[in-house]
Amino acid sequence: MTILTFFIEPSGALCGQSRVPGDKSISHRAIMFGALADGITTITGFLDGEDCLATLNAFRAMGVVIAGPDQGRVTIHGVGLHGLQAPAGPLDLGNSGTSMRLMSGILAGQAFDSVLTGDASLTRRPMRRITEPLTLMRAQIATGEQGTAPLQIHGGQRLIGIDYPLPVASAQIKSGLLLAGLYAEGMTRITEPAPTRDHTERLLAGFGYLLRRDSERTVAISGGGHLTATPLDVPADISSAAFFLVGASIAPGSDLVLEHVGINPTRTGVIDILRLMGADIEILNPRLAGGEPVADLRVRHAPLHGIRIPEALVPLAIDEFPALFIAAACAEGVTVLTGAAELRVKESDRIQVMAEGLNALQIAAGATADGIVIQGGTLAGGTVNSHGDHRIAMSFAMAGLRASGPIRILDCANVNTSFPGFADLARDAGLKLQEQA
Ligand code: S3P
Repeated sequence: MTILTFFIEPSGALCGQSRVPGDKSISHRAIMFGALADGITTITGFLDGEDCLATLNAFRAMGVVIAGPDQGRVTIHGVGLHGLQAPAGPLDLGNSGTSMRLMSGILAGQAFDSVLTGDASLTRRPMRRITEPLTLMRAQIATGEQGTAPLQIHGGQRLIGIDYPLPVASAQIKSGLLLAGLYAEGMTRITEPAPTRDHTERLLAGFGYLLRRDSERTVAISGGGHLTATPLDVPADISSAAFFLVGASIAPGSDLVLEHVGINPTRTGVIDILRLMGADIEILNPRLAGGEPVADLRVRHAPLHGIRIPEALVPLAIDEFPALFIAAACAEGVTVLTGAAELRVKESDRIQVMAEGLNALQIAAGATADGIVIQGGTLAGGTVNSHGDHRIAMSFAMAGLRASGPIRILDCANVNTSFPGFADLARDAGLKLQEQA
């Protein structure tokens, strides 16, 4: 495994105009829907990070011809819902939970057997949340004893639709079940405890598949239809933009425009939370691109204050909390997060790892069972271990904008899973970051 350390000298401000890479959630789904559609799907703005490439390679391994990515352009020769072929071996999905949860839904409906595996982080993450409802749909999937990958999927089952209330707010599980629903007899109906990202629903509609919305939280799909290829333009990822929204908010003198960012309302919790803390974020030129709302975001430095984060915003900002904790560390007063136990089962235990990292930089932060309490203060220099979690590494890199001494961040190679080119883009905007192999 590559070892990569980030070294950040106390920096000034973030300024200029930047475009962060394509949306990870949409890029994964674009490959999956393009592969399962009839016809040729062309994608622009595709994220060529390691996670989405894992999805792309898995579909290639199942016989789908895919050209690219070449500067964000991918061309997929769809094989139709029943055209995938048995892969020659296990499908290695690397660090990517989205690939594993969504693809288990697809593979449960195939005529062939398959095995899904991944790296040390992914094979520790909970998979029963997807395999149990798929089993109710009569899929046959075996996990390890702890309910973890590798997943052994026994194909050739006749799936049936279920009516399923999701126990946790998870777009990955909702999406995996909708994808299995494409192969099931009858209706698959899913109710969420709180709204989560709806890219799967939007893409199903874009690929011409009929979906029923029974309420804001209930979505239903019938098997037996087909997907029709369509061109897709993937917006820049708001989860990647989040590091820069936080960085510019905390660094005096900052004035940064982030271009063509996806502002789907199921993803904009980070903007809402930062604004509640006093951030100055403007949404410029809002428009629609490929069925998703996008805009340019202008962010300028503003003094932040601590808040109690509304629990309703948690699923809408679920990936942005590591960055938001850095904002809280620079804010005046206390920030309290509750209702976010899900953060403990991401690429790392993001509550524990962030609390330890903040403590290493002399910020008083205490982990709780389902959240964290952070007392704003002065960030010192120091060494932080990202535990191989891309979002933790990038969040602490932004802390360098306000730290009183240099920050060293260990184990940063996984930044490439979601944000290839992060170091260059951050340097261009004004962060004094060096990479040390
Ligand atoms: C994702 C859903 C979220 C998020 C992940 C991407 C998706 O996971 O954390 O990065 O693309 O559906 P959960 O569904 O586990 O909350």
